[in-house]
Amino acid sequence: MTEADTPLMQTERLIPDAVGVARAGELLRAGRLVAVPTETVYGLAADARNDLAVAGVFAAKGRPLFNPLIVHLPQASDADRYGVLDAMARELAQAFWPGPLTLIVPLREGHGLSPLITAGLASVALRVPAHPVARAVLQAFGGPLGAPSANPSGRISPTTAAHVLAGLDGRIAAVLDGGACGVGVESTIIGLTDGVPRLLRAGGVGVEAVEAVLGQTLHPARPVDATQPTAPGQLASHYAPGAAVVLNVTAPRDGMVWLGFDDGCDGADLTLSARGDLTEAAANLFAALHRADALARSRGAALIGVAPVPQSGLGLAINDRLTRAAAPRG
Ligand code: TXA
Ligand code: MG
Repeated sequence: MTEADTPLMQTERLIPDAVGVARAGELLRAGRLVAVPTETVYGLAADARNDLAVAGVFAAKGRPLFNPLIVHLPQASDADRYGVLDAMARELAQAFWPGPLTLIVPLREGHGLSPLITAGLASVALRVPAHPVARAVLQAFGGPLGAPSANPSGRISPTTAAHVLAGLDGRIAAVLDGGACGVGVESTIIGLTDGVPRLLRAGGVGVEAVEAVLGQTLHPARPVDATQPTAPGQLASHYAPGAAVVLNVTAPRDGMVWLGFDDGCDGADLTLSARGDLTEAAANLFAALHRADALARSRGAALIGVAPVPQSGLGLAINDRLTRAAAPRG
């Protein structure tokens, strides 16, 4: 069956009250897919122990099966059931969970997770989200939830329920509308599988804060090994809008929607943060890209230009996402 033949379902719109959260828990226990707000972006959740449910996540997103998912847990004390946490992992969990940090640790024997979650790797990505709705759903469900960002693979990540529906309406059982996500970029991913801490993806927790807790500098990800399944940052083109993205644009141009950084960008169509605040810019990033894309479509513009963003704090995560949005598409 091709994607075009896949029958569409009625996607339930749930509000995050007791009834909506209970319904989400019930759907997840039945192996269905539910988009849930987290503090970073909306996640497309499924029972991490159920092969069919996890396979459904890959199918709904059009995600390559070699790209593993993050396992979301109700509380930090659950991490030991699925992973082997060393002293560094424990310090980071203590400092940043619940919150926008994902730890890659060795898989624990007898973990009970679907092998699809880890794409056959010997490690697992664990995160305890902070968003009250995500936490309520995890409690109602009572187990581990696999949840990638709730967007078609390779497209802009969703920070509102409307973004989720724009990409996945009819392909998932339900979306819980918890409003806009506060952080706006995905979790920071730290690899802890080979004795040194590695930054696998810049994200919602600043690199400086992670290094301060560990008392050491983070190492880069190991170089890409073509024989290994992919890890974050290795898919060069990602977060791509329909229009092509050009970086470091410092003035408006014809045929281009210009996304400015701060209020110094005269003539910008959209601005990430008028006061030049990186936290606010991160929270606005994906919504601004969605809006810029809609604007480009309505004007028949082929390009989205983006002003330079300072490379510090959350600027690392923002520039990482922008670089991949601008990468040649494979
Ligand atoms: O903030 C977030 O992390 C959001 C919310 C929903 O929690 N989730 C998210 O998931 O961004 P996703 O699937 O879009 O990104 C997860 C990244 C992928 O790049 C994947 O390759 C990586 O985590 N990953 C998962 N397991 C891994 C592992 N065992 N080793 C290396 N990378 C792993
Ligand atoms: Mg994603």
